[in-house]
Amino acid sequence: MRSDWWRRAVVYQVYIRSFADGDGDGIGDIAGIRARLPYLRELGVDAIWITPWYPSPMADGGYDVADYCAIDPRFGTLADAEALVREAHELGLRVLIDLVPNHTSDQHPWFRAALADGPESPARARYHFLDGRGPNGDEPPNNWPSVFGGPGWIRVREPDGSPGQWFLHVFAPEQPDLNWDNPEVRAEFEAILAFWLDRGVDGFRIDVAHAMVKEDGLPDLTPEQFEGVPLSREDHPHWDRPGVHEIHRSWRRVADRYDGGRVLIGEVGVEDPARLAQYLRPDELHAAFNFPFMATPWSAVALRGIINDTLDAHREVGATPTWVLSNHDATRHVTRLGRPYTGFRRRELDDVLATDLALGTRRARAAILLMLALPGCAYLYQGEELGLPEVEDLPVGLLEDPIWRRSGHTIRGRDGCRVPMPWGGDVPPFDFGPPGSTPWLPQPAAWRALTAEAEAADPGSMLSLYRAALRLRREHPAFRTEAFRWLPSPEGTLVFERGGGLRCAVNLSNRTIVPAPGRAPLVSSIGPDGDELPPDAAGWFETVA
Ligand code: NOJ
Repeated sequence: MRSDWWRRAVVYQVYIRSFADGDGDGIGDIAGIRARLPYLRELGVDAIWITPWYPSPMADGGYDVADYCAIDPRFGTLADAEALVREAHELGLRVLIDLVPNHTSDQHPWFRAALADGPESPARARYHFLDGRGPNGDEPPNNWPSVFGGPGWIRVREPDGSPGQWFLHVFAPEQPDLNWDNPEVRAEFEAILAFWLDRGVDGFRIDVAHAMVKEDGLPDLTPEQFEGVPLSREDHPHWDRPGVHEIHRSWRRVADRYDGGRVLIGEVGVEDPARLAQYLRPDELHAAFNFPFMATPWSAVALRGIINDTLDAHREVGATPTWVLSNHDATRHVTRLGRPYTGFRRRELDDVLATDLALGTRRARAAILLMLALPGCAYLYQGEELGLPEVEDLPVGLLEDPIWRRSGHTIRGRDGCRVPMPWGGDVPPFDFGPPGSTPWLPQPAAWRALTAEAEAADPGSMLSLYRAALRLRREHPAFRTEAFRWLPSPEGTLVFERGGGLRCAVNLSNRTIVPAPGRAPLVSSIGPDGDELPPDAAGWFETVA
C-alpha cells in the first residue's frame, strides 16, 4: 500500500456506537464493524476512522476517555481491536482511531488522583485547578463558558470536605481539560500514540486539535469573544493558540518513526483557511477537516469561494485539501440541504426550520458528486451513503447528548445524526443488531426503504450513486493528478475540469444547463443518460474522445 495514500483517500467515519451491534446489547461494537468490513470494501472507501472506543462513562459519547490504552468492554477487547486492524488491512482498508488530548474523563485515574490529592499536588498540576474569585472563592476563576452550555468551571470539595478549588472543562463537566504545560501530559500522549501505532493503526483523527494550549494566567474572554464561542480568533485565550503547533510537531515526529504512511488528521475548528493551513505545514498534521466547506450554504458563489480559498491555502503549504459534508456533530446534510438555510450552523437555530427532504436528497446527490470530484481527500459519515436524514423527533427521554442537558433542555443536540444504521430487513433493528435487540436510539420505521440491503438492489439509490462515483474515482485517470481548473459556466453553476478530460458540473441555478453538449454523463445525480442537467443536479462528463 502506498505511503502517501492519505493524499487522495476517501475516509469513512464509523461512529462505533451506531454502526453495527455484534452482541445484541443495542450498542455498536468491534464485532459489528468486523462483520461489515466487506460492505465498506465494496462501497469503495480507502480507510475508516473509528470514533473513540476506549473505556468511558459515555458522558459525551466516548469523548470522555477513562483509559487511552484499552477498549471499552461494551465495544470488545484489545484482541478484537487488533483483529479488526488485521482484517481491515487484508481487505486493503486503513484504520484511523480517535485521539482525545484536550480532556480526559473525570473517571480517568489522573483526575481521580487530582481530586484525592488536593491543592498543590502533582496530580492537580495535570489539569487546570485554580482558586475561585470573590471573597470566599465561590465564583469561577474566569468567565470561560462550556461549549455545551453553562460555565466552564466546576468547584470541587476538597478531601477534608471543605468547598475547594475549581477545575476547567471547556466541554462537559465530565471532561476536565488537561494542562498541556505539564511535561508529564506531553510524554503520556506520545506514549499513547506509540501504543496504538505499535498495534498497526494507520493514524489518528485528533479531537479539537486547536484546543490544548491555554493562554498563561487564563484571562477572561472579552465580551466579543464570549459571544463568539466557539469561534476561533487570533487572540483567543484557549482556541488556536500558537503553542499548539509544537505539540503537533512532537506527534509528527512519533508518527514518522513508523513506516507505511501513518497519519495525523486534525479536527481543527478554525475558520480562516490560511490559519487552518498552518496546522498542515510539512512537520505538523497530514490533513485537517474542511469545516468551512461543510458550513457553506448551497450557493454556487459561496461554494466557488470556499473551494478557491481551500485550494489556495493548502497549496501554500503543500498540504492536501479535504472535503466533508457530514459527521457525528452536524445535522445530516440531506436534512440541512432541504432547509431554507442550507449551511451548517449552531444547532439552537435548527428546530425552527422546515425541511423538504425530497429537495435535500436531490441536492445531497449533487453535493456528493461535487465533493468527490474535488482534488484531495474526502470524508464520509456513516449512513450518508444511504441518504439518511437527521432524526428530529427522538423522544426527549432518550436524548444522551450533553448539549440537551447543559442547554436546560432547549437544544436537542446531536443524537439525531447518531441513530443506529439500518442494514436490512423491514422492521427495527434493521439488522443493526440481532432480531429482537433494541438499538440505543430508536430507528424510524420509514428507514425500511433506506437499508443498505434495499438500496444495494436499487440502481437509482443513494448507495448505488456512492458506489458508482467511488468506483470512478478509483479507476479514472483524472483522479490520479491534482489538476483542477474552473470552466466558464452560466450563473449559479459550477463547472470544472480535472486532468484526463473529466468535467464535473453542478447546477445550483433554477434553469436546466447543458455542460457537455452531446455527451452522456459517466455518472449523474439524476440518472445515467442525456446531456441536460436540471436544477439541483450534478454529473461527471468525459470530454476527450
Ligand atoms: C469534537 C467531537 O467530534 C465531539 O463529538 C465532542 O463532543 C467534542 N470534540 C469534545 O471532545
